[in-house]
Amino acid sequence: MSHGRGPGRFMMESAKKTRSTKQLLGRLWVYLGKFWPWVLFSGLLILVSTLGQIISPLIISQGLDAAVATASPDIEFLTTLFVIFLALSLLVWIVNAFNTFILARVKANMLHDVRKDVFNHLVKADMSYHKKEQSGNITSRVTSDTDELTTGLTVFTQVSSQLLLTVGTFILLVMTSWIIAGIALLAIPFAYFLARFLGGYGRRIMYQTRKSYGEVSGQMAESLAGVSIAKSFNREEWASSILYDLNMKTYGYYKQLGALFNFLFPAVSVVSMVLVSFTLIVGGWLPTNAISFGEIYLGIILVQRFLRPILHLSMFYPQLQSSLAAMDRVTDVLEQVPNVKTKHDATKISLEDTSVKFDNVTYEYVKDTPVLENVSFCVKQGEKIAIVGHTGAGKTTLAALITRFYDPTHGNIFIGNQNLKDVTLNSLQRSIGLIPQEPYLFADTVLENIRYGNPEISDGELYELCKLIGADDFIDALPNGYDTMLQESGKGLSSGQRQMITIARTMLADPKILVLDEATSRLDAYSESLVQLAQLALFKGRTTFVIAHRLTTIRDVDRIAVFEKGILVELGTHEELLAKDGVYSELYYTYYRHQGIEELKDVRKAPDSSVISSSSSMMPESGNPMMHGHANMSTEDRAQMKERFEKMSLEERKKLREKFHP
Ligand SMILES: Nc1ncnc2c1ncn2[C@@H]1O[C@H](COP(=O)(O)OP(=O)(O)OP(=O)(O)O)[C@@H](O)[C@H]1O
Ligand SMILES: [Mg+2]
Repeated sequence: MSHGRGPGRFMMESAKKTRSTKQLLGRLWVYLGKFWPWVLFSGLLILVSTLGQIISPLIISQGLDAAVATASPDIEFLTTLFVIFLALSLLVWIVNAFNTFILARVKANMLHDVRKDVFNHLVKADMSYHKKEQSGNITSRVTSDTDELTTGLTVFTQVSSQLLLTVGTFILLVMTSWIIAGIALLAIPFAYFLARFLGGYGRRIMYQTRKSYGEVSGQMAESLAGVSIAKSFNREEWASSILYDLNMKTYGYYKQLGALFNFLFPAVSVVSMVLVSFTLIVGGWLPTNAISFGEIYLGIILVQRFLRPILHLSMFYPQLQSSLAAMDRVTDVLEQVPNVKTKHDATKISLEDTSVKFDNVTYEYVKDTPVLENVSFCVKQGEKIAIVGHTGAGKTTLAALITRFYDPTHGNIFIGNQNLKDVTLNSLQRSIGLIPQEPYLFADTVLENIRYGNPEISDGELYELCKLIGADDFIDALPNGYDTMLQESGKGLSSGQRQMITIARTMLADPKILVLDEATSRLDAYSESLVQLAQLALFKGRTTFVIAHRLTTIRDVDRIAVFEKGILVELGTHEELLAKDGVYSELYYTYYRHQGIEELKDVRKAPDSSVISSSSSMMPESGNPMMHGHANMSTEDRAQMKERFEKMSLEERKKLREKFHP
């Protein structure tokens, strides 16, 4: 059970901070200061509204004295007071509404700026940062943490206007009647008790409620993401029971929170009433010339007002703390300096020579634990090299070093004679095409997903390319063809189709150096046939590193580099390495070779005449036709087949495919 996962885990950290409040407020001011005229104006409006709220009971108190205390009330005076009261109420309302509007604008602008900065920093951050942090954690830097900042700002303005109101009210009370002001002071011990209570038990229970709520949504997200696994292992009920337990825990905290508020608000009302009664008793007890009827009314209103802000302050204090902690986490991102960056004297990469040389390269994710060790080899311009090795051998890491996601801990990598560290990151990454182990597709149309490789390409050119690599068949068969909307990460497409889209995308980008990390999952027969032909087209004329998991791929490359536990143990052609009878031959006989099926050994040789009829005989007629169909063919057979395929027209290729995938 993973109670520590999901948003709940982040909330646990929500009140911790590493920088001083002053530093954090300074950082906040960097953003808020940009709008200082508006902030100042909003402060003024708060002042005006507070003054209005302080004055309005004073007007009623004057009115009461004028109406009740004299036998013949001065109607004109009362009418004037009425108009002033009305105008003041209207003013307070307009000022508050206007201020809400201004604050909303300032907050929206600030949120936009902070989010933009945080996002830009995250995009530029090293891959090591992204690997280290959980993706949910990173997302929350941009979303909930920045939200938390604006919530903090809202609470801050509310609390400060309440405080202003309390202080103003008290001054007015002293001016009206120091005796009633004294009664209001009786509220202080109660307010102190409340603040202590809320600050301790109240805050704890609010925190627990938020945390367990986060756990419920985290668990729900996790269970739904793994729903297929839960189904296949028949563990749906187990998943439900975990959620039930968490829900019950949350329910318990909600109950406690409800009870707390049910106790708190009536308690505040009771204390207010007690203070009001005191005010009435004292007012009645004092001689009429010492206090007027209107003043007693004023006392009642003001004494009631006294408790609210204190309640507010103690309730929202944790929110302010957690906003500062959010600012702290946001600052962590903003102060992050990437290790991999363009040197000030870096030049644009020259692609005249696209050979790649690893010179004694060692890489450690964790200090003193090398995952690649003293790797030295050279790949010639236009050469295709397969990287093979057991899982965890360091293949993906090697690919990441070529694209300079990380810099080697020791040693250097060269393209031509240029050290990767001496060229600009932009030009380097533009000249290298990386197809990762898990191809990533965006929630957009097929067309736009492919165009991602080169936004300038026309629709016509894009269709041509897809035809060339044989992707148009399956794309045309999609509900809206090229305009079919894909779901995030290409759910709903087969893994072969996803790879086809990434291959087309990479071809559009036309990188001179290609790094392809083949998906470890075996492709089905249909996908295998699709992808293999497209890969042939993709590799053509490019210096290619392919982390190979498929027999068909390693048979297509010039040389093979074999890695074991981070060390380059063998390097040579397929035949050379088989003859060596070492790690590669063991890998080949235990893993790759079994990807071809034995029956294919006696695959009929294709006559050279008609392409289509020959193509039909290239493939086995029964069994599992495209399942790595030519895996066990001799090198000559394969060369012939490749040549014939390259000669075929698009129409003929299509017919061939249709034959095997009716
Ligand atoms: N971000 C990381 N932090 C620490 N160690 C890592 C990290 N990424 C990979 N490793 C470790 O580095 C070693 C090489 O990993 P790598 O992903 O390069 O293997 P691989 O050869 O691509 O494996 P596979 O065939 O399973 O894809 C492994 O032992 C792995 O645990
Ligand atoms: Mg890998």
